[in-house]
Amino acid sequence: MSAESIDGKALAEELRAGFKARVAALAAHGQRPGLAVILVGEDPASQVYVRNKVNACEAAGIFSQKLVYPADVDPATVLAKIAALNADPAIHGILVQLPLPRQFDEKAVLEAIAPAKDVDGFHAENVGALAQGNPRFIPCTPYGVMKMLEKHGVELVGREAVVIGRSNIVGKPMALLLINAGATVTVCNSKTRDLAAHTRRADILVAAVGKPRFVTAAMVKPGAVVIDVGINRLPADEGGKLCGDVDFAAVKEVAALITPVPGGVGPMTITMLLANTIEAAEREIRT
Ligand code: GUN
Repeated sequence: MSAESIDGKALAEELRAGFKARVAALAAHGQRPGLAVILVGEDPASQVYVRNKVNACEAAGIFSQKLVYPADVDPATVLAKIAALNADPAIHGILVQLPLPRQFDEKAVLEAIAPAKDVDGFHAENVGALAQGNPRFIPCTPYGVMKMLEKHGVELVGREAVVIGRSNIVGKPMALLLINAGATVTVCNSKTRDLAAHTRRADILVAAVGKPRFVTAAMVKPGAVVIDVGINRLPADEGGKLCGDVDFAAVKEVAALITPVPGGVGPMTITMLLANTIEAAEREIRT
């Protein structure tokens, strides 16, 4: 039996349509949500992500400010800009695109963002709040995954969830969200011994390792829900196309529900960034 595909693009559109009323309600209060996006250097993937984020803001009626710095910028310049944005009432969300060039202390940059404007949810205070089960901002990619599971009525309480990947951006917050939802969670990585023994137990399997077609059909329990967070560019001699961390063609014959790449988790990430920015502006009105 072939798995049902989760259409991330359609869900993203549905959620974005729902944002219109919230943005209109804010406008009635004289408020327009504002997002500042900081990009340092010329990493082509980061340039695409930042452009997509700014365009999505525009389409949603969110004010956005894109700040681009050369790769060799003095970190003090960026920290001073973040301090100015923290104090700017037109800006409700601040995002620093990662990775940063080597001269940067990434943690120091993320901690410089006011926690109330940290729409990525990467500030230690917000990570702590999520770990305690009282999230203020949920990191966008795992937040999008949770929305997909919710949309498809995937039961989490008491079920086995396995996350492959332990990054601060996806793996760790994903595991915390699944723990908070009542799942029994195992966090693996690409070097986990006998990885397949873990993944084959998973009712819900989330792949976030950044290795093309890393998850094979033999690693998946029949009837599992498989979420592919990977966005890998295949080499030119393999067509140069985007490819996930899951061998989609083979795994879809084993799983019950599966996300494609592209068109799965990808469109949800920016959607949840918009959600967090709108939420930040709404909190401003409530305070
Ligand atoms: N780089 C890759 N993913 C992300 C993300 O979700 N947020 C930021 N700021 N940088 C990233």
